[in-house]
Amino acid sequence: MRTHTCGELRIEDTGKEVVLCGWVQRSRDLGGMVFVDLRDRYGITQLVFSDSIDEELYKKAKTLGREFVIKAKGTVVERTNKNLEISTGYIEIVSKSLEILSESENVPFTIEEETDGGEELRMKYRYLDLRRNVVQNNLIIRHHLAFEVRNFLNQFSFLEVETPVLIKSTPEGARDFLVPSRLNPGQFYALPQSPQTFKQLLMVGGIDKYFQIVKCFRDEDFRADRQPEFSQIDCEMSFVTKEKIYEIFESLVRHLFVRIKGFEPEKFYVMKYDDAIKYYGTDKPDTRFDMKFVELDKFAKGKGFKVFDDAELVVGIKIPGCADYSRKQLDSLTEWVKRPQIGAKGLVYVKINSDGTYKSSVDKFFSNEDIKEWADAFNAEEGDLLLILAGENKHTRKALGELRLEMGNRLELRDNKKYKCLWVEDFPLLEWDEETSRYYAMHHPFTTPLEEDIPKLDKDPGNVRANAYDLVINGVEIAGGSLRINNRELQSKMFEALGISKEEAEKQFGFLLNAFKYGVPPHGGIAFGFDRLCALFAGTDSIRDVIAFPKNNAGRDIMIDSPAAIDEKQLNDIKLKIDIKK
Ligand code: AMO
Repeated sequence: MRTHTCGELRIEDTGKEVVLCGWVQRSRDLGGMVFVDLRDRYGITQLVFSDSIDEELYKKAKTLGREFVIKAKGTVVERTNKNLEISTGYIEIVSKSLEILSESENVPFTIEEETDGGEELRMKYRYLDLRRNVVQNNLIIRHHLAFEVRNFLNQFSFLEVETPVLIKSTPEGARDFLVPSRLNPGQFYALPQSPQTFKQLLMVGGIDKYFQIVKCFRDEDFRADRQPEFSQIDCEMSFVTKEKIYEIFESLVRHLFVRIKGFEPEKFYVMKYDDAIKYYGTDKPDTRFDMKFVELDKFAKGKGFKVFDDAELVVGIKIPGCADYSRKQLDSLTEWVKRPQIGAKGLVYVKINSDGTYKSSVDKFFSNEDIKEWADAFNAEEGDLLLILAGENKHTRKALGELRLEMGNRLELRDNKKYKCLWVEDFPLLEWDEETSRYYAMHHPFTTPLEEDIPKLDKDPGNVRANAYDLVINGVEIAGGSLRINNRELQSKMFEALGISKEEAEKQFGFLLNAFKYGVPPHGGIAFGFDRLCALFAGTDSIRDVIAFPKNNAGRDIMIDSPAAIDEKQLNDIKLKIDIKK
């Protein structure tokens, strides 16, 4: 139907007869001339309909509304009024024919780079939002990333293998989405939270390097970086060490940076989980900026300041060059840390004045000498500001971690053109859950403990570390993986530590334990959150921006209006009675 796209024609094409198809982005009637901006995926080309050339055609062009789909034939001519902003801006098409292929009603928001549509509206009409360049560019990045991932892994002999979607519960820690089975009334499939057990069975099956770009489903609470259905680049390898896994997947990330961004990120650092918590208060530190935690217990306690004396931990960060913060700014920071999301009780500050004296919010309790000790512990210089929190260990670290990120934002230290990649390793194997009074696997129950910690599994399970690692880029957990258990005894011991009885283990994972009878290679792997990776490359914080048809933050697809009630007949088919208790 078309000879060229709307992004293709250049000054060299002057004189050519062309046919273009696309959407009318705008049309302007300047009296005797109608100018139309015709848009498709590739760009925008200006069409001209002139009264003096063809009166009928000019009249027809006047009827065009926004988002009409048209086909126009004409000659490429050099523009007198060139638009240097767009690649086709040197030419225009003097039209000779016009066909309206499909009319459009008034669209609910402007389909241009800058739109007046709010997020909900754009979600409801996602197919219109998809016409916008910004959204299309994100999908293009996603496509290129998927393509390059396949390209790279193929070169390293990884096989892409599809695993089933109607399966049985997988233990990734979230709730399962369930699918009732019509042929087996009262029984349910679960949608995979990840293909974890299948990829391990592929290793038993001799597929020694596997990958899959795969949909995963988790019924969990929503955040900007979570969706109930999301994609992973799921990988597994046999006969592999942790170092080899780091090497291959660091190369993959480098390859993607080179292909998509045109440059390589700096060195990948490795940090122990314990250090991440100690110095950043989180297992996914943003290392684009410093502000490491400094613990002050030994200087700050025992001087009569009750808040510090009663605290399990007194810890702070140094904000370079911010000693001139006003009372108002400090009050606003105090309010910020007291918000329920952060939950700190208050904030102590120390200003290192330009004359070398100190001004703190706790001057009443601490002498200049006391505060000098703190400043020395921070290696603080004149002009620096110290922000200090105190309270229960875990909670205080978490709150200070949030404050650190907030200060990073306020001081514009979280530059999204800068990339810092970090392996965080030696996570705890197990995590205690107060509510249910039992341990849960921090990664999943198939992860190996560190060799030297295995003896602790019986008596001190909470302190066993795992051969588990995350890849963190700019403070986002981009990937996670581990070395797996490949012997039945250790796997059974692990289930035991998790409080899963023999019978329960057999019922849930009998297939895996059975497979472990027949020669299991040592294996390990990793899964990248593909949407998060796309968001990182697209420079957006929300993975919704890189998903063609995302769910909103209540887990709804407001375009197709799902989830939705089903009719009686469907319920009868699956022999399910619903009694909804509000
Ligand atoms: P994990 O649970 O760490 O590991 O998941 C791997 C990566 O998937 C991404 N991710 C998500 N992305 C969007 N929305 C979600 N709801 C969501 N949940 C997780 C994260 C995360 O790092 N089977 C193991 C991997 C392995 O051990 O090989 C697993 O699924 O980026």
